[in-house]
Amino acid sequence: MSGLFITLEGPEGAGKSTNRDYIAARLRDAGKDVQLTREPGGTPLAERIRELLLAPSEEPMAVDTELLLMFAARAQHIEQVIRPALARGAVVLCDRFTDATYAYQGGGRGVPTERIAQLEAFVQGGLRPDLTLVFDLPVEVGLARAAARGRLDRFEQEARSFFEAVRQAYLARAAADPLRYQVIDASLPLAEVQARLHDSLPHWLERARG
Ligand code: TMP
Repeated sequence: MSGLFITLEGPEGAGKSTNRDYIAARLRDAGKDVQLTREPGGTPLAERIRELLLAPSEEPMAVDTELLLMFAARAQHIEQVIRPALARGAVVLCDRFTDATYAYQGGGRGVPTERIAQLEAFVQGGLRPDLTLVFDLPVEVGLARAAARGRLDRFEQEARSFFEAVRQAYLARAAADPLRYQVIDASLPLAEVQARLHDSLPHWLERARG
């Protein structure tokens, strides 16, 4: 498989979407075919699963239901979008992927890492991102930004301790594999963050699958 699989991760309010659009524009400037997508979602069916996952509801969602719905949406997304895009040689730029499952369902909800790893192997086979950018910032800053955006989804309504656990899970994963992960200080001014992304771009492109 050719192409390049880049994922963007981080807590709420870290500026992922703005920076994702910025990276996509720079990659297109460099003549790349860019497939911009997100999880949960990325196909019409997976977006319907996303709605189920994010809508606050009277009935509490069981942790395993949440976990399996994340992977159900992912299976659809991989088959319909990610694998075909990589096969045609595109750069896939995906707003969240399985690291979010390790961070939110693992760190946040307490699902054992081994269980997530089993589902990852089952749904993805050997598919892993080539590069994962973790936009990191203090929990209170991110939550304040998310709150300023308006109505909170089911995850955004979680307690601060949940998001602390999410953040630590991301940082631990990044520390364990510095070749795949790049941690970006998202509390810096946007122009500074984007200057750093711009400088890193040539290094990322060197990783394209042969
Ligand atoms: P966002 O993409 O708008 O940030 O919202 C997606 C939410 O879903 C976010 O709170 C993180 C959460 N999420 C998980 O809990 N597990 C996952 O595997 C993914 C992809 C997202």
